[in-house]
Amino acid sequence: MSSKQNIQSPKGKLGVLTPGMGAVSTTFMAGVIASNKGLGKPIGSIAQMGKIRLGKRTEERNPDIKDFVPLASMQDMVFGGWDIYKDNVYEAAMNAGVLEKDLLNAIKTELEAIKPMPAVFDPKFVKNINGENVKNEKTKMEAAKALMSDIATFKEKNNCDRLVMVWCASTEVYTQITDIHLSIEKFEQALEENHPAIAPSMIYAYAAIKSGVPFANGAPNLTVDIPALIDLAKQMNVPIAGKDFKTGQTLMKTILGPGLKTRLLGIDGWFSTNILGNRDGEVLDNVDSFKTKEVSKLSVLDSVLEPDKYPELYKNMYHKVRINYYPPKGDDKESWDNIDIFGWLGYKMQIKVNFLCKDSILAAPVVLDLAIFMDLAQRAGMKGIQEWLSFYFKSPQTKEGLEPIHDIFLQKIKFENTLRHLMGETLINYLGLDYYEDDTIYELITDEQKK
Ligand SMILES: NC(=O)c1ccc[n+]([C@@H]2O[C@H](COP(=O)([O-])OP(=O)(O)OC[C@H]3O[C@@H](n4cnc5c(N)ncnc54)[C@H](O)[C@@H]3O)[C@@H](O)[C@H]2O)c1
Repeated sequence: MSSKQNIQSPKGKLGVLTPGMGAVSTTFMAGVIASNKGLGKPIGSIAQMGKIRLGKRTEERNPDIKDFVPLASMQDMVFGGWDIYKDNVYEAAMNAGVLEKDLLNAIKTELEAIKPMPAVFDPKFVKNINGENVKNEKTKMEAAKALMSDIATFKEKNNCDRLVMVWCASTEVYTQITDIHLSIEKFEQALEENHPAIAPSMIYAYAAIKSGVPFANGAPNLTVDIPALIDLAKQMNVPIAGKDFKTGQTLMKTILGPGLKTRLLGIDGWFSTNILGNRDGEVLDNVDSFKTKEVSKLSVLDSVLEPDKYPELYKNMYHKVRINYYPPKGDDKESWDNIDIFGWLGYKMQIKVNFLCKDSILAAPVVLDLAIFMDLAQRAGMKGIQEWLSFYFKSPQTKEGLEPIHDIFLQKIKFENTLRHLMGETLINYLGLDYYEDDTIYELITDEQKK
């Protein structure tokens, strides 16, 4: 059994800041406010509704996670953020068209009070949209300082004890790590020099980390996944995590993929296509933004299926992902997966999945949990990349040299064991041998429990 870690208590208010106040962010904020008023339930949130098994199965200890670990309460949350449009959260949520008008009207006063601060924006990184609520600082370093000042002012005005930041803004165009991303010295110099390889999301992440605010990246952009910011996060004792919320089709892939692999069924091809009509879909209609998303979506199956270890089953798999902007769908995304599988003696079979999902409804509890668990990480003194939160991401950020784990069930075990570790409980990996006592299978135990 590990000893209980020292975790500061979640006293006072937690401010949740989101760069980007579009469909996902407003569905999250409105959902928390509605839920606090008893107008709905935070379904999908592990922090609010999850339970955790402790000790042996026979002990029947299954507390709610929120009673087991000291987490910030939804009642103590306040919200803020930045967007290139001036719409307050009520207007933006109405535009996004995810939540029903009646629900939004019931919490109109609270939503109208949340107004976006002017954004750090560069149309070279997000095509297809343009807004007037933007900062006009001369250099990227000045823009970072302006964000730090926004953060400090928000904290003071709202009387917050702590803050977290979750990137909910549009997907930026595909960028790769270059020399200026490799060390904080080079990065800071590049900020001063307005270097074109620094994306707005990196400026937000830099400002958050410098302000001691945990940063989670909900989009597939590089953002905080660069050596300069990873090192800075460690130096500043700040937790970071990313990338790209795991929802929709990729969520289904990481549920189905491990199942097929577990039974060693082969896969010839996996074709995934989507239609969606929200602003995210509009941005992703741009080929460079789609490239960022595509890379994030494609990496998932390789890691789940391990084609190098199982070449006969997965080496020749053809994997294709398509996203199509189709305005009539709005936020109601529709996705189709055609999976060509083969079994015994190579006989071929097919699986078809037609998922009619609501993207932001799936993403909102992810934002909530990330805010809550990143805050927990901060209070527990956990700094740098929080790989235990991979569960929430399509492209989990890992320490250098480590392959990410994509299998959602393995991710969940890692997540729960981190909570057990923090609270000084025995880790459970469900992999121990059956333990026989008086010829009866007594309990599935881990090696650690046997000691
Ligand atoms: N909905 C999901 O299930 C899901 C899953 C994974 C990832 N994501 C990602 O989450 C992000 C948000 O998705 P959404 O559906 O809310 O999109 P959205 O288009 O409705 O909202 C994004 C908002 O970000 C704003 N924005 C763009 N650049 C900005 C900047 N530099 N600073 C501040 N604001 C900026 C836009 O004006 C827009 O209002 C997207 O990157 C999307 O790819 C969403």
